[in-house]
Amino acid sequence: MTLIAFHDGDDNSSLDVWHNCALKIEKNMSFVSLTDKQAEKAEVALVWNPPKGRLAELKKLKLICSLGQGVDHLWKDISLPASIPIMRLIDPFMSHALSQWVIAVLLDFLRDGSFYRSKREKREFYKLSQRDTFGMDVAVYGVGAIGSVVANTLKNLEFRVTGWSQTQKPHLLFEQETGKSAFQKLIKSNLIHICLLPLTKSTKSLFTKDIFMQMPKGAYFINAGRGEQVDEMALLDAVRTGHLSGAALDVFCEEPLPKTHPFWDEKKISIWPHVAAQTNPETVIRQIIDSIQAVKLGRRPINIVDPIRQY
Ligand code: GLV
Repeated sequence: MTLIAFHDGDDNSSLDVWHNCALKIEKNMSFVSLTDKQAEKAEVALVWNPPKGRLAELKKLKLICSLGQGVDHLWKDISLPASIPIMRLIDPFMSHALSQWVIAVLLDFLRDGSFYRSKREKREFYKLSQRDTFGMDVAVYGVGAIGSVVANTLKNLEFRVTGWSQTQKPHLLFEQETGKSAFQKLIKSNLIHICLLPLTKSTKSLFTKDIFMQMPKGAYFINAGRGEQVDEMALLDAVRTGHLSGAALDVFCEEPLPKTHPFWDEKKISIWPHVAAQTNPETVIRQIIDSIQAVKLGRRPINIVDPIRQY
């Protein structure tokens, strides 16, 4: 019997859903809440944003699995036992969902959705001239499991996509740039900027005031990476002054976004409560069970993250 310590952020209401989903594939599994005393016997932790210090108390732990594609919530815990492998989820269905969110917010911006919604309130049947988007340049920052799907999808919609990453990735079907100077070049030459980077030491605070000011006037910023990659007040200022046309954000420095946050008062910033791609137990349970079985057989589990690179 494998005991799994489970924690899904502040609300553990999905424990039974995950347990039942796992039982369909593997009967020998039992789930317990991470905060329960019994969790100290667990060999596996399946967690999102666990309370700091708690994982270090689980002395029998052999595998930590993030309940999302990102693992940055785990690095925040400095007591995290370094010898335990950490896996992240890589799920084509989540990448697909995220690409659809990007398309939804990007096309809503390019086709003036919010303008027409405001006109509807006044029953005004009023036309703006349509933007020419055929072959429009779009920069996608982060071209891993998610970013490459987003970039391909945008390319299929006739955008001219350049993907940016810190290191060269093979076999991409779109233009790719790497390194600091290419980053600056893309910032200056693209109107559409889409951040899908993992949060690491090198991507933290990447989008600063200076970077927003270097974007062409009228640029649009989309973020489904992490809030901490962005100087939020600089972004707000760039939108308020009209330098940027707006932004669509699914991630924030503090989540839930506090009710007093000034983003709520800026109509040109569209706010999404971290829903661009939600984890679906049905589509990811197989890889979790495969990794648990690998660990038990002394093999390397799949989708293990590199603690040095932090993703
Ligand atoms: C969501 O942000 C995830 O990391 O899956």
